[in-house]
Amino acid sequence: MRVRDKVVVVTGAAGGIGRALARRFAAEGAAGVVVADLDEAGAAAVAEEIGSRAVPVHVDVSSEEQVAGLADTPFGPVDLFCSNAGISAAHGLDASEQEWRDLHAVNVMAHVYAARAVIPAMIDRGGGYLLNTCSAAGLLSCPGDAPYAVTKAAAVAFAEWVAIHYAPKGIKVSVLCPLGVRTAMLEKGLGSDHLAFKAVYASGPILDPADVATSVIDGLDAERFHIFPHPEVAEFVHLK
Ligand code: NAI
Repeated sequence: MRVRDKVVVVTGAAGGIGRALARRFAAEGAAGVVVADLDEAGAAAVAEEIGSRAVPVHVDVSSEEQVAGLADTPFGPVDLFCSNAGISAAHGLDASEQEWRDLHAVNVMAHVYAARAVIPAMIDRGGGYLLNTCSAAGLLSCPGDAPYAVTKAAAVAFAEWVAIHYAPKGIKVSVLCPLGVRTAMLEKGLGSDHLAFKAVYASGPILDPADVATSVIDGLDAERFHIFPHPEVAEFVHLK
């Protein structure tokens, strides 16, 4: 899929990876980019930087009603929905019941809400694209927090389900599965007391969000379900 002249929604677009995606989609000639985030000021700043082809939207992706509202853009119907917002918890077995629920809401249910919000209209228009940011943590045994790995694995499974069921109707789905990317989320993990997490990520290949955006642009054109900004993750997964 080429981004030129397409209408794109990016959630978590005030954060590291989402901001890089929104900027890059605009640079690739998108007709319009909806910059959606819980961080209202952050979304406004990113949209302002992009210019007239971007609009900021305040959204809590754990609300189905609010995610549904993202389908109604000033640029027209959505061609590409990037469900990218995500949260981590920095806890293992000690994660609280509330953390499990919060991560499930943002890391899993938000993808479900996005699919429900845009797929029917995409089918009516002959097709569309869903890009769901998951994580290498959902595919590999990554150290870090338990609810994160579990919810990201669930997010990959949901995307596969959508891909299988809706491919015949012209819906393409890809999962973006990075390892370490230099953003506020990674900083939070590195600042936690997960020594194993620090050992892997601090010494491992940590990418800039702009590199992730380049992998996405290349990946959208390819006929593949996984987009791996870190080639070493791709190798590991394919060896399994
Ligand atoms: P980030 O913390 O910089 O950005 C996350 C953004 O999501 C923030 O702007 C935040 O305000 C927004 N957000 C959080 N909860 C929200 C909600 N309920 N509604 C709307 N927006 C909400 O983190 P980063 O790294 O840019 O994360 C983006 C995605 O990439 C996440 O899904 C994350 O799990 C995933 N990821 C990140 C990796 C990394 O190393 N940074 C590695 C693998 C995956």
